[in-house]
Amino acid sequence: MNWTQVCEKEALPEGAGVAAWLGSRPVAIFNLGHRGLYALDNRCPATGVSLLARGQVCELAGELYVCSPLYKQHFHLTTGECLEDTELNAIPIVVKADAAGVWLAGEGA
Ligand code: FES
Repeated sequence: MNWTQVCEKEALPEGAGVAAWLGSRPVAIFNLGHRGLYALDNRCPATGVSLLARGQVCELAGELYVCSPLYKQHFHLTTGECLEDTELNAIPIVVKADAAGVWLAGEGA
């Protein structure tokens, strides 16, 4: 798997989303502290607008979601599945952090 470093871990505020680029692809990264690090394609599948990083993270039935700021659909932080509409899945992106920083799986171009 190829990894692209996007930032240092200190650049991610805990509990909020941050927008980043993986090459030309907009990515939303969520640092939930001890609950983990998550990344989805930042584009809202309903509108094509890059705004999921600005969504509210919430827990529903023990699962973590981001609530799209525009139409309020909930996207699962791990699978990208939309709670309200199975045709609107967000694309999950593999993310990891180590001492050097935060990494996304895939090529930066
Ligand atoms: S933001 Fe929590 S339910 Fe939508």
